Amino acid sequence: MTTVRLNSADPVSFDADALIVGFRSGPDGPRPATGAEALDTAFGGKLAASLAAMGFTAKPGEVAKVPAFGAITAPLLVAVGLGETSDTEGLRRAAGAAVRSLDGTTRAALALPADSAADAEAVALGALLGAYSFSRYRTGGDRKDPVAELTVLSPLPSGDAGQAAERATVLSESVALVRDLVNTPPSDLWPARFAEIAEQTGGEAGLSVEVLDDKQLKDGGYGGLVGVGQGSVNPPRLVRLSYTHPDATKTLAFVGKGITFDSGGLSLKPSASMDWMKSDMGGAGAVFGALVGIARLGLPVNVVGYLCLAENLPSGTAQRPSDVIHSYSGKTVEVLDTDAEGRLVLMDGIARAAEDGPDLIVDVATLTGAQIVALGWRTAGVMANDDAIRELVVDVATQAGEGAWGMPLPEELRKGLDSPIADIANLQPERWGSMLAAGIFLKEFVPDGVRWAHIDMAGPAFNKSEPHGYTPKGGTGAITRTLIGLAERHASI
Ligand code: BES
Ligand code: MN
Ligand code: ZN
Repeated sequence: MTTVRLNSADPVSFDADALIVGFRSGPDGPRPATGAEALDTAFGGKLAASLAAMGFTAKPGEVAKVPAFGAITAPLLVAVGLGETSDTEGLRRAAGAAVRSLDGTTRAALALPADSAADAEAVALGALLGAYSFSRYRTGGDRKDPVAELTVLSPLPSGDAGQAAERATVLSESVALVRDLVNTPPSDLWPARFAEIAEQTGGEAGLSVEVLDDKQLKDGGYGGLVGVGQGSVNPPRLVRLSYTHPDATKTLAFVGKGITFDSGGLSLKPSASMDWMKSDMGGAGAVFGALVGIARLGLPVNVVGYLCLAENLPSGTAQRPSDVIHSYSGKTVEVLDTDAEGRLVLMDGIARAAEDGPDLIVDVATLTGAQIVALGWRTAGVMANDDAIRELVVDVATQAGEGAWGMPLPEELRKGLDSPIADIANLQPERWGSMLAAGIFLKEFVPDGVRWAHIDMAGPAFNKSEPHGYTPKGGTGAITRTLIGLAERHASI
């Protein structure tokens, strides 16, 4: 577990195993950024020139390590590039990239521009997110312990400093909780296990937690959760997490897709698309992590979270293409493709969430491969039944540094979901616009007059390629901070 503190000490004499120093790029080569000017002097004015000689140009996220040879108290200096200018997300990423490069360091300090509360929090958060590692399943010597103590060197007064450190800690721990769940193999995370973790950890954070088991789901008419989960020996669960605050004037409902493993069911996926489908519970993970974070921050807003948990496997009891299921809303759905299962569990979660009378429902899901085709790995698609809400969600995500872009819900796509025998089919016959068609499908389960947004984060939930900035390989915890940000925007002041 990594801890962070803010301290107004002088970086030159600060006692740490490594000192991370921010550099700006420019026509004359790298130069120390605000807060790090004294360091160049400590190195006899030769630090920037030596880094330039090593080929370091201070482009965003670039890292170079140099021994300090006694010029400063820390034995190792880690230079990190901030580019010509940087916004708060640039600071988070630079701090994350620098911390990620540390190997076997116990105590690291960061001298990056951190004059304002927002910048100090960004440095602390990026550093904590970059310190994440998942080594639970490693037994050998390559088990890497993350850095233990981070100190952000910042001139902030101690009250503001304490608050920035506390917020960064809560946000990063919420994200780490999600990353751990996404990274956990499906042999160790099935619906009932996820529900137990939600009860335990959610309870400790002060949330009320209710779990519906498979019998209660059957009796309650949750045909989507039951249908998707019926092929697995690990039956489905619906978890309801609730957080209330006495001063709250608004209620938000978050609904997460929680497929602990998506094989596709009888509409089986090819192996190459299946190996990372342990990440198909990333939406439920984000909802869970956000609820825990919101409770720990004590935000003055009411929030309910639904985790729609099922394992999508083929077997003699699995649902079949052409089955018709009765959703919780009362509408019937023809299952044309058992691999379009996310929308089936979400339709029940959304209809149930509407009963809480929320001011806004937001669902989060690793819903379609088409999202990755349209927007790539790092940008989630945001759809809504209200333009202002869609823009709000995109804006909050952007502020958090989480890629998101508004997408339409074209009415003409509804026709493709007509079923010859049921109220709606779960799949349109053509593949074009599949991300939007999935959104159109979900919209059918939002009661009239209820404001709703849908976030498709099939790409952003899991990083299959190399780490970057504060984002590790594997589970990213994407959209967790966006949901917390939405709660902050709805908090009564
Ligand atoms: N979980 C997948 C979507 C997915 C794909 C997430 C790639 C992350 C990375 C979802 O359940 C799925 O299988 N979607 C199908 C829907 C199709 C059958 C309409 C898809 O996108 O191919
Ligand atoms: Mn699927
Ligand atoms: Zn899925």
